[in-house]
Amino acid sequence: MIRVAASTSVDFSPYEELFKRISALKKEMNALVLAHYYTLPEVQQAADIVGDSLALARAAEKNDADVIVFAGVYFMAETAKILNPAKQVLMPDAFAGCPLADSCPADEFRRFKAQHPGAIVITYINSTAEIKALSDITCTSSNVEHIIRQIPPEQQIIFGPDRNLGAYIAKKCNREMALWQGYCYVHDDFSEEYMLIACVEHPDAELIAHPECRDEVLRHAHFVGSTRALLDYTVSSSVNKFIVATEPGILYEMQRLSPQKIFMMAPGEPDNPRGVCTQMKQNTLEKLYECMVNRKPEIIVDEQLRCAALVSIRRMLEMSPV
Ligand code: 13P
Ligand code: SF4
Repeated sequence: MIRVAASTSVDFSPYEELFKRISALKKEMNALVLAHYYTLPEVQQAADIVGDSLALARAAEKNDADVIVFAGVYFMAETAKILNPAKQVLMPDAFAGCPLADSCPADEFRRFKAQHPGAIVITYINSTAEIKALSDITCTSSNVEHIIRQIPPEQQIIFGPDRNLGAYIAKKCNREMALWQGYCYVHDDFSEEYMLIACVEHPDAELIAHPECRDEVLRHAHFVGSTRALLDYTVSSSVNKFIVATEPGILYEMQRLSPQKIFMMAPGEPDNPRGVCTQMKQNTLEKLYECMVNRKPEIIVDEQLRCAALVSIRRMLEMSPV
């Protein structure tokens, strides 16, 4: 049988004591806990705000907390720090990096830019502060289309680091774009062949997919959207069964908001069944608690780099739909 696993409800009773301690620490420290949809269910449960990359960047920008605790991957916490130099930003595990962001080193990207003089550089938020500093506008999968449509048609565009998101949006907006050839191993792994088998086995289900998936998968999807857009679609759709081609952490929130519906993970290559972002799962509830107690790991960003990276992040927030 191909890898199609239904989501299950979660028993939080083993975590009650840690939930209480984290809640007390939040008050004591005036801390705001942010968690991405791909983190473990118990980490999402302990968070004040759970969201996709754009929602979390916005939440990091506007809050009255003294401390931000970011359960996500490094570039997300780094973005929170860039937006909030005066706040302490903590991460449960500072080694939780994003391989997509790491696939785009600044020196190589600088050379790539030099090959396209005059091009505007639009960069996915899944990138390092150095890459953001080399970019004109940052974007997320939620706002990339809205941002690209604001760029004059004659303007050449460089897009990085995700080639699948770049190719998807270039096709959708009918724009030529020079694409950096990075990819997210979680989304790139979904297999067209096994996806089609899953669709045949579940004819009453709709395939929904994140634009970090390959085009061969996206072209079969009933709906393509960011993690948040996929979640909203499952809530508003009259369909009751979904094959979900994105990171399985979102199944927890999908199931919570639509308990009567059935959610199945889309299949990847059977000999390479990854499908899970191991970096996101490095944020355990224990590490979340310990980072609050110890006030570390703390995210520190060099001030000159922070100011340079802030420009492209601010442009993103200004150009995003409200
Ligand atoms: P979004 O949160 O924008 O959907 O991005 C998905 C992702 O891969 C985050 O690392
Ligand atoms: Fe990076 Fe992919 Fe994990 Fe997102 S899901 S953090 S893009 S490796």
